[in-house]
Amino acid sequence: MAPIPIEASQTISPPIFYWGTPVVLITTENEDGTSNIAPMSSAWWLGNRCMLGLGAVSQTTINLIRTKQCVLNLASDNMAGAVNALAKTTGSKEMLTAAKGTGYLYFKRMNGYKYVPDKFGRSGLTPADSDLIRPPRIAECPAQMEAVLKGVYEMMQDAEMKGFIALEVQVLRTHVHENIRMAGHANRIDPDKWHPLIMSFQELYGLGRKKTSESILAEINEEGYRPFSNPVDDEATTEEEE
Ligand SMILES: Cc1cc2nc3c(=O)[nH]c(=O)nc-3n(C[C@H](O)[C@H](O)[C@H](O)COP(=O)(O)O)c2cc1C
Repeated sequence: MAPIPIEASQTISPPIFYWGTPVVLITTENEDGTSNIAPMSSAWWLGNRCMLGLGAVSQTTINLIRTKQCVLNLASDNMAGAVNALAKTTGSKEMLTAAKGTGYLYFKRMNGYKYVPDKFGRSGLTPADSDLIRPPRIAECPAQMEAVLKGVYEMMQDAEMKGFIALEVQVLRTHVHENIRMAGHANRIDPDKWHPLIMSFQELYGLGRKKTSESILAEINEEGYRPFSNPVDDEATTEEEE
C-alpha cells in the first residue's frame, strides 16, 4: 500500500457539516389530499430503516407525523434541474408570515424561500401511484421506497436552538428502474450503474463513474444482511446464495 500523505491540519468552525450525502425527494400527502415534495439530504440507512433529519416546521415533517407515510425517492445525478426547481420552496403557508424568533421558518422567509403548494407542477416531475401507501412515487427517480413512520426523536434537546427532528421510517417496498439493477440478481442494485446526486456543503455533485478501489467489506454476501431488512416476497425470485 502506498503511503498516504499527511497534510498540516488547522482548527476551523464550519457553520454546517454537510460532508456529502445523497439527495432524497420525500413525497408526503398534504391535509387536502394533494402531494408535497421536499428535497433533503440528512438521511442515512440501517437495515430497512432510514433516519431523516428535518426541520419540525417543514410541511414534510407535519405531513409525515400526521399520516405516518412517505416515499423516499432518490435523485440521480442528472436530476439537478428538478432539485433546483424545488430548492428554496416550502409547502408551508405559515412561512409567509413567520415572525422573527420562529427559527427555521423565519430563516426560510429571510432567505428567499417561496410558498409552493404544487411541487409536482413546479418541478415537472411525474407522480406514480404507490402500492401500499397514499403518497405518490416520483417516476423519474431511479429508486423509490414506500415507507412508514416508526419513530420521532427531537434533536438538540440540550441546545437553545431547537426545532430539528430525526424521523425513523421503515421501508416497506422498493421500486427501481431496470437500468440500475445488477444483472443476474433478483434483489440487488449495481453500484456501477447507480449514480446518486450528492449534496455537499449545499452544492450538487455526482460520484465518480468508477470504484476508487476494491472493497474488503464488499466480500460479505449482501444476503447476509437480510435478517435486518425485509423478507423476500414469496412471488419474487429468491436470491441464490453466492
Ligand atoms: C439538496 C437539498 C438538501 C436539503 N436537505 C435538507 C435536510 O436534510 N433537512 C432539512 O430539513 N431541509 C433540507 N433542505 C431544505 C428543505 O428542502 C426545505 O426545508 C423545504 O422547505 C422543505 O419543504 P417542505 O416545507 O414543503 O417540506 C434541503 C434542500 C435541498 C435543495
